[in-house]
Parts: sequence; structure tokens; C-alpha cells
Amino acid sequence: LFTSVQLAPKDPIFGLTEAYVADQRADKVNLGVGVYTTDEGKIPLLQAVMQAEETLVAKHAPRGYVPIEGPNPFNLAVQQLLFGADSDLIKEGRVVTAEGIGGTGALRIGADFIKRLNLNAPAAISNPTWENHRGIFESAGFEVIEYTYFDGNTRGVDFAGMVKSLESFPANTTVVLHACCHNPTGADITEAQWVQVIEICKAKKLIPFLDMAYQGFADGIEQDGAAVRLFAKSGMSFFVSSSFSKSFSLYGERVGALSIITESKEESTRVMSQLKRVIRTNYSNPPTHGAAITAAVLNSPELRKLWEDELAQMRERIKSMREALVTKLAAAGTKQDFSFINEQRGMFSYSGLSPEQVERLQKEDGIYALSTGRICVAALNTKNIDKVATAIARILA
Ligand code: LMR
Repeated sequence: LFTSVQLAPKDPIFGLTEAYVADQRADKVNLGVGVYTTDEGKIPLLQAVMQAEETLVAKHAPRGYVPIEGPNPFNLAVQQLLFGADSDLIKEGRVVTAEGIGGTGALRIGADFIKRLNLNAPAAISNPTWENHRGIFESAGFEVIEYTYFDGNTRGVDFAGMVKSLESFPANTTVVLHACCHNPTGADITEAQWVQVIEICKAKKLIPFLDMAYQGFADGIEQDGAAVRLFAKSGMSFFVSSSFSKSFSLYGERVGALSIITESKEESTRVMSQLKRVIRTNYSNPPTHGAAITAAVLNSPELRKLWEDELAQMRERIKSMREALVTKLAAAGTKQDFSFINEQRGMFSYSGLSPEQVERLQKEDGIYALSTGRICVAALNTKNIDKVATAIARILA
């Protein structure tokens, strides 16, 4: 039966974690996967999460099924986080939200839903993008094409190229956009550029699908929602996948959500009915725990304040690690100007290291990064940063 089964390549992100775990060196450093760790190198359990969880556990509540689309308090909290508590879209019943199994699961149910519309159009992802975007949309049956995004020379967005790509796409192309903290480059477009992107999506009848995995990691919860709010004002129908893996440090709980913005309440009812069929035939209904914690935090003013403070601390620590890396790389004698690392937003730095240089870091120093040169700045700390800066400087010399 399985004689013709080919050995698949390892996942570029989690496959690297497997290699890291197997590495016996005590001072190894994992800058591969996008996971925030504290200065002690630990994945934090946020105070807000801990308090919400303690209250939940004390209730010893039975574990019945939740609705196919997930619990209402969670879905409403997600909508308010994305669009604001007094959003007209929410009041008008134009937002359909369903819990997803993490941001990936949310993207997948969104992709499956769009595929069922039989639009016969491709999905477009940025070049470069998060490694899993292509796989998710291909697995859902899409032809996946790319739009120009990053300019390696300026280390910024090639916006003219992006516009040209978007304008060339056939109607109904699903365009996967990074709402903030572009993964892997950390290069985001400006608000004025978002306005232009929205105009093109409207004029060319493209389907925007915003991936929001890092809300709060660039400038703040509200500020990082700017692109989503601009789309909300546009009157267009669009999709948003939310992930709470990073912002709540709840990676393994797989907490995410898909929101679909429709034209009317009546349309929302029909859209939700079909989305529920997608979910029911995939995994029936979502798990209880992670979404219950997230909803408890978002729906309590005290816990929400605590969470926002903790998220701000994570954001600030990442920024301080960016600054320290730039300073230490210069001090270690690199000739290249690395100040661009301070301009990049979110968890990652697109370092410009070549696949060969990344391989040497892994072999010679036990420092793991993606072969694209993406390094997770959120995994740097005061104990490992000297080693990382010295190793990079040596390899570049
Ligand atoms: C990453 O980009 O490293 C994270 O989003 C983890 C993942 O699911 O790939």
C-alpha cells in the first residue's frame, strides 16, 4: 500500500525545531520558530492567562460540545478586538466570526470556504511570505501565485511592484495580506499604501484575506489594527484570520478565529451557515480551553488591562533585543550596517544571511535560523545575544 509513498521534506519551521531539540549542545539557540521567550529563555505563561485559567479550573465545568462556530463570548471579543467595541460593522451584523484551530486553522477554513464558492480564481501570496501560506491554499485546492513584496536592496517594501502585481490579477483572486508585522520580512506598508491597496482590491474585484497573527507586536493593539479598520471602512467584503498564539502566549492551545465581513446581516446568516458546514466536515467543532481563557481575558476590564501591559512588555523587550543586536554586531566588527533590524516590526528579522551562512551558524555554533535568513528576535535574550552576535560577525568576516 505504501510502497509509492515518497519521503516528504521536513517542515521548514517545525522541522528545524526537531533538529534543534535533537542537538546536544548546551548553549544552542533556536531563532527558527516564531515563539516569544523571556530573558530567561522560557515561553511565558502570562499573568492574565494564569488568572483566567485559575478561575476557569476552579469551576470544574463539564466539557460539552461548543457550537460549531465556537463560543459566542469568544467570537464577539475577537470582533471587538479587530474592529473596536463600537464598530458599525458589528452593529449592522456584517461580521461572521468562527473560532479556528489557531491562525493556521482559521486560514484553512477561510480557504476552504472561498474554494466552495467555485470562483475559479487563484490565491496570491506575498513574495516572500510565511512558509505555510502556500501549503494551506494549495491544500484547499487553489493555484497559488505570488505578488511582489520585498526589495532586498532597500530592505523595504517594493510598493510599486506590489501594485503592479495586484493590478494584474484576475477578478476574484484571493489576496493574502499580512495585517501587520509581515512574516518573514518585518516590513509593513504605510496607512496611505493600505488605502491604495484597498482601492485596487475594489477596482479589480480581488478578495482580501488579512492574516493577523501579531496584533500588538508592532506599535500596540489599536495601532496594529489600522489596516483591518481601513478595510472595515471600505465597504468591501473581506476575510481576517486572527491568531492568539503569540499575543496570549498560548501556542499549544491553538486559539484563532476567522472573521468574514459581508454586505448585510442577511448575507451573514447565509455565510455563517456555509462556514459551519466547512467546520463540521473538518473537525466538527473547536476545543474549549484556549478560547475560554482568551474570552475571559478579553471580556474582563482588569484582565484585559493586565494582558495589554504584558503584551507591551513583550513588544518592548523585542525592541530592546533589536537595538542590542545592532549594537553588538557593530561591536563584534561587522562591516555591514545592520541598523535595518531596528526598523523591522514584529518577532522577526529578515537578516539577509544566505542559506550557506545560516547552515554554518547551525553547524558551527548551534544557532538555528530559517534558511531564508529569518531570525526570531523574540528568542534573543541577554544570555544568548553575545554568542549570536559574535557568531554572525565571524561568519560574515
Ligand atoms: C512561525 O512563523 O514561525 C510561526 O508562525 C509558527 C508556525 O506556525 O509556523
